[in-house]
Amino acid sequence: MNETARDTANNRGGDRASLQGVCRLFDPDLLQSCSLVILGASGDLTARKLIPALFHLFLQQALPDPFLIVGCGRSDLSREDFCRQLRIFASEQVFYTVQAWDSFCRILHYQRLDYEKPEDWKALKWWLDEQRCAAGIGENHLFYLALPPSQHAEVSRQLKEVGLSSEQPGRFWTRLVVEKPFGHDLASAVALDEQLHRSFQEHQIFRIDHYLAKETVQNILMMRFANAIFEPVWNRSHIDYVGIIAMEDLGVEHRSGYYEQAGVLRDMFQNHMMQMLSLVAMEPPSRFEPDRVQDEKAKLFRSLRPFNPKTATQNLILGQYTAATVGGRGVVGYREEPGVHAESCVATYALMRLFVDNWRWSGVPFYLLSGKRLARKETKIVIQFKDVPHSMFRHLVDEAVPANRLELGIYPEERIALRIETKSPGGAVCLQPADLTFDYGDRWQGMRLDAYEKVLLDCLQGERMMFWRQDGVELSWQYLQPVLGRCGEQAVYPYPAGSLGPEQGRDWTRQILELY
Ligand code: BG6
Repeated sequence: MNETARDTANNRGGDRASLQGVCRLFDPDLLQSCSLVILGASGDLTARKLIPALFHLFLQQALPDPFLIVGCGRSDLSREDFCRQLRIFASEQVFYTVQAWDSFCRILHYQRLDYEKPEDWKALKWWLDEQRCAAGIGENHLFYLALPPSQHAEVSRQLKEVGLSSEQPGRFWTRLVVEKPFGHDLASAVALDEQLHRSFQEHQIFRIDHYLAKETVQNILMMRFANAIFEPVWNRSHIDYVGIIAMEDLGVEHRSGYYEQAGVLRDMFQNHMMQMLSLVAMEPPSRFEPDRVQDEKAKLFRSLRPFNPKTATQNLILGQYTAATVGGRGVVGYREEPGVHAESCVATYALMRLFVDNWRWSGVPFYLLSGKRLARKETKIVIQFKDVPHSMFRHLVDEAVPANRLELGIYPEERIALRIETKSPGGAVCLQPADLTFDYGDRWQGMRLDAYEKVLLDCLQGERMMFWRQDGVELSWQYLQPVLGRCGEQAVYPYPAGSLGPEQGRDWTRQILELY
């Protein structure tokens, strides 16, 4: 392992506890020497997410050794310019020091690449081969597509042309990392996949959903299936409804070009919301292995009751934020955001009720709520249990006994809270709700990896658990396809920025957020 990185980690007080935390997060035997090629390296994703994540992994000695990162882009940059540009965001990280950054920059390179020019690809291949021989780097390659989806097909074709997509099992591997959106609808997702598969096999493709890399999202399966007490009540007999909530306080920011095409249904529902739904509702796989877990997710998606456009308004509420004063500050409406059409009817909010038609969930409503510019940023899953069948306290306390409720907090609170009824101290009989809680922050003091760090580490290790498999992508689109059409058909209700969404969704929202 790189001496400077080790020193830096130790100097930073890389205490034993935190390093032990990392050790549990990766398997050194799976970290094989390789080159990471970031295609689209002059974009935001590289500067804001990928490089800070790699820098942190480097400091935690969680990267292969020897290892090479090469950013590719159309801009004509020297290696020094590239490092200088990236330093801007890296220096905002708490773990940044000049010395640490300088040592990280030794594994950072830049190659100019015009994606349409075969000669540029040949030059890249030649350069990679040369670096490999000079630095003894393994023949393994990880290609990260930090590019708009419209370029994915061409780039994967060029990689094949130049001989960079092949692998030899047991000798060397090649992997391709793809970011969402995986297509725009079912047909385009199938077409994109077909194009990617001309150059890469399914096991080489890593489709990222950063929600799956969140500890608290992954923990859903541990909580359900590593404890015996939840499964017996995890069904229609005991659960009244399930709420999956991903509220955001920010607007579309600088992404209006993308958002005008996507809207909330493509941006959040097709991927993150469907993943959370599948983890909460799927059946237990017999082993915790990627394909077995993916099989169960696919089964769950197939069990979703098809969305019926005839009864759409009973199950779907769409909204779009309008200008308002939030926290004393004027906030523009969606239609006033730069780059948004003045009469845009793109939904920035959706509240959907869906049903899973299987033995376990028959009749249980699942409410999925997500939107931009809402009152706060909060992501959580709510499991609302049924009322006690008979209250023996009814003659002593006025109100009905509130039902148990399990909340899986994802943001800002990373915690599990089970609400139970308890007796208040004193002579009179009086019931009070109390939470049994598990808080990630309190429990795990050691080093934690953020979503992109985990995603990158898993790609390097070839660990496929937290990535989408193509059948899941298609089933998710298949379910949402009739819903997508609703944006032109159904009213998109206005809601003031900073609120809880349109009035029309008030009853369901009050119920799932318990705003009584
Ligand atoms: C992204 C969406 O996938 O997820 C964004 O494109 C959204 O629009 C983001 O803001 C939310 O992620 P998180 O981790 O902040 O909840």
